[in-house]
Amino acid sequence: MQRRKFIRLSSLGASMLAVNPVKWNAAPAQPVIVSTWADGKHVNEEAWKILSGGGRALDAVEKGARWMEDQINCCVGLGANPDRDGIVTLDSCVMDEHANCGAVAALERIKHPVSVARKVMELTPHVLLVGQGAQQFALDNGFKLEPQELSPSAKEAYEKWLEKSEYKPEINIENRKSSNPPPPMRLEDGSFNHDTMGIVALDASGNMSGGVTTSGMGFKMRGRVGDSPIIGAGLFVDNEVGAATSSGMGEEVIRICGTHLVVEFMRQGYTPETACRLAVERIVKRDPEKAKKLQVGFLALDKRGRYGAFAIQKGFEFAVRSGREERVLGCKYVYDYGVT
Ligand code: GLY
Repeated sequence: MQRRKFIRLSSLGASMLAVNPVKWNAAPAQPVIVSTWADGKHVNEEAWKILSGGGRALDAVEKGARWMEDQINCCVGLGANPDRDGIVTLDSCVMDEHANCGAVAALERIKHPVSVARKVMELTPHVLLVGQGAQQFALDNGFKLEPQELSPSAKEAYEKWLEKSEYKPEINIENRKSSNPPPPMRLEDGSFNHDTMGIVALDASGNMSGGVTTSGMGFKMRGRVGDSPIIGAGLFVDNEVGAATSSGMGEEVIRICGTHLVVEFMRQGYTPETACRLAVERIVKRDPEKAKKLQVGFLALDKRGRYGAFAIQKGFEFAVRSGREERVLGCKYVYDYGVT
């Protein structure tokens, strides 16, 4: 009996020693925003118009995401690659400083899924609306039904894909040679684009919010939804600790509740970069051979305004903007595509 009690107490002691929760300073930091991929610099530029004026992180994130959704030659919004049946379906979510969240998945013919996600958060008791129901909700709330047509670049990519119609789910391996999905497309200014725009921000009041918008994996199975609209997978915000977002193969992110895991690592005292690395390693450890062929990148920002990222493959980038800096950065990774 005594021995059992001792074992119970010592294991409790060990776990208390192992976890060293961060005590966050209530003082607000300077605003900071980080967004996935190099195109995040444009998103940050839009969002900064709100953050620099003392505005709310949620408004900034939505404004940035809407900019991305307006681009017609990119992998986000209605100009993006369709599913394998030739239909563009969009996923998005937002989460604010009060842990309010809203999301839409498999949304068709609506230009700004991020704003529909915000309306789900603000106007309904629910978190996630999908498919026709999400579209009906958008129309009921003043969003316009857009024509069902592919952008010129998506049409070209889809026609090329149809030549083989090979269903090989892969996602944004930057330097791979195969044509599924096609190489990242260019924005009008010539910069590259990728599958998912994930954004997390800290505002001048010291509050954090995040948003994600994507068309998901190009030429996906009809009805397939990835990590992006799933709270805790594609996005998680905890206003006491920090926020994280992800890009890449959504199924792998969902399997480990990726961004929730990153935030929990930050809660234990790890820096954003280390927290992202530990989450990436969780994926790689499950199946290193599979991980060699896919990309996942995590991006995190903590309550102090520190940020960091980590990816499975070489090539994941993110953009940061604050009062002190405005730049695009690469990050550390596990594999240089297929090379251990
Ligand atoms: N990360 C985007 C997706 O898997 O759909």
